[in-house]
Amino acid sequence: MTRKKDIKKREDIIRLVDGFYAKVRADEMLGPIFDQVAHTNWERHLPVMYDFWENVIFHTGTYTGNPMTAHQRVHALQPFTKAHFNRWLQLFRATLHEQFEGLNTDITDQRATSIATVMQLKLEAH
Ligand code: HEM
Repeated sequence: MTRKKDIKKREDIIRLVDGFYAKVRADEMLGPIFDQVAHTNWERHLPVMYDFWENVIFHTGTYTGNPMTAHQRVHALQPFTKAHFNRWLQLFRATLHEQFEGLNTDITDQRATSIATVMQLKLEAH
């Protein structure tokens, strides 16, 4: 049995992010939030997400945006629910563990879970 590898470099993050958003776009609950509510430009959004996760995992300073502002804008158009967050995390964790295993993989799982929890609390406050 071959072991999966850990997340070690930007190339790995690109594979993770591309795999995750392929699932998101095909998902009947989350897909429309990007395509019909936010009108996401994927060619622009995906590189932002590579930078975001590279910064979260490797502290590269590559992401300087503010995720809360972006989500508040979309949340005002169509409120995010607990079900949306549960699905988001389910798809993210499924993609992550399908592709990788190891310390950085576990750290990524924990960071995704805690950011999602905080984001959910902050959005509910608005
Ligand atoms: C209910 C769950 C979520 C939904 C439906 C959602 C949806 C979205 C949408 C529609 C955008 C805007 C894309 C665009 O620019 O068109 C966005 C941006 C973004 N999301 Fe999420 N998101 C969710 C949770 C999360 C979580 C948990 C994280 C982090 C762990 C995250 C990280 C980001 C980042 C970094 C951006 C880019 C912000 C920027 O433009 O700088 N999202 N999200």
